[in-house]
Amino acid sequence: MEIESTTLWDFPRQNYGDKPHGNNKYNGVTPAFVIWNLLQRYTKEGDLVVDPMCGSGTTIDVAKELKRKVIGYDLNVTRPEIIKNDSRKIPLADNSVDFVFIDSPYSDKQEY
Ligand SMILES: C[S@@+](CC[C@H](N)C(=O)[O-])C[C@H]1O[C@@H](n2cnc3c(N)ncnc32)[C@H](O)[C@@H]1O
Repeated sequence: MEIESTTLWDFPRQNYGDKPHGNNKYNGVTPAFVIWNLLQRYTKEGDLVVDPMCGSGTTIDVAKELKRKVIGYDLNVTRPEIIKNDSRKIPLADNSVDFVFIDSPYSDKQEY
């Protein structure tokens, strides 16, 4: 796989490779290759990545695969490693993480 080098990113599928990254049945799942590109470009091995609204855990799977540390929060916990949290407040100290990825919900598409 190559890092996208233009502003036009085309992802015909939610997943890449032969292992799942997140769950493509999850409402609003993020294309895994978006996260792969961002982590490749802006982080290095051992960095701490946080996703405050991680849904089905796509960021968790991509980050682990790329040997980044990762914390995933969501109101809707779909997997044991996701920490239940309302990310209007995030329980981390300022400047304590290397990269934040967030794919926020769209309007009132989902009820909580
Ligand atoms: C677009 S989805 C994220 C999809 C995720 N990146 C994935 O690949 O599965 C947005 C997520 O935001 C979560 N969410 C909405 N409001 C939230 C809040 N206040 N705090 C934490 N999570 C929230 C929803 O539960 C939903 O999982």
